[in-house]
Amino acid sequence: MSSISFIGLGTMARALAARAVAGGNTVELIGRDPVAAKGLAAELGGGATAGSFGAAPAGDIVVLAVPYAAAVPVVAQYGEALAGKTIIDISNTFDADATGLVVPDGTSGAREIAEAAPASAHVVKAFNTVFGHVLAQGRPLDVFFAGDDPRAKADVSAFIVSLGLRPLDVGGLEMARWLEGVGPLLMGLARHGAGTFDVALGADFPG
Ligand SMILES: NC(=O)c1ccc[n+]([C@@H]2O[C@H](COP(=O)([O-])OP(=O)(O)OC[C@H]3O[C@@H](n4cnc5c(N)ncnc54)[C@H](OP(=O)(O)O)[C@@H]3O)[C@@H](O)[C@H]2O)c1
Repeated sequence: MSSISFIGLGTMARALAARAVAGGNTVELIGRDPVAAKGLAAELGGGATAGSFGAAPAGDIVVLAVPYAAAVPVVAQYGEALAGKTIIDISNTFDADATGLVVPDGTSGAREIAEAAPASAHVVKAFNTVFGHVLAQGRPLDVFFAGDDPRAKADVSAFIVSLGLRPLDVGGLEMARWLEGVGPLLMGLARHGAGTFDVALGADFPG
């Protein structure tokens, strides 16, 4: 099992942390509001703890569960406190009507986070292609992920399995932009073809 810190206490942190506790992981919750962090830790149980915002996270894996606009500033604020960590970037970078991306061509939110993080940290893009409220239902889902460091990817893959989810590696961090492009696709599917936000994307292949 893994040692995981969540920075951010919103919909995604809550859904992922609940599954992480259920999966036997060691979970730390970190937010700007220490009272809210303690409250969520107590609510989740399973030995979950509350950390101090800005101090070195306890987990080997740090889930950055803040809005895209806050992600780089938060990573910059943490600075060397994130040295050696595997950082999971879950952010969606789509625009207000979810038909395009706000990141410049040729890069991604994940790449921007990697550039802001210490050189010894490894960024893996994951979970942005699943809705938080669907994660919270507890059903099995596919989780696409991308990153450059094999060890970090193996650790994230094991973490995803511990959540009762199926990890699907789509390649290096250059693929993060295309994972971020799946955000508008999922929103469009929910609004049009599926006609419901109770929807998830998956892959079908032999083996
Ligand atoms: N919701 C989904 O279905 C979904 C699906 C896939 C990916 N995502 C991505 O997951 C990330 C989190 O989404 P969410 O739905 O969980 O958002 P959320 O419910 O709005 O929670 C955001 C969290 O980030 C914190 N935060 C915001 N600005 C911050 C800052 N400058 N410094 C520190 N903490 C800050 C908030 O803290 P305060 O309460 O103190 O403001 C809150 O705890 C986003 O990047 C989003 O694109 C969301």
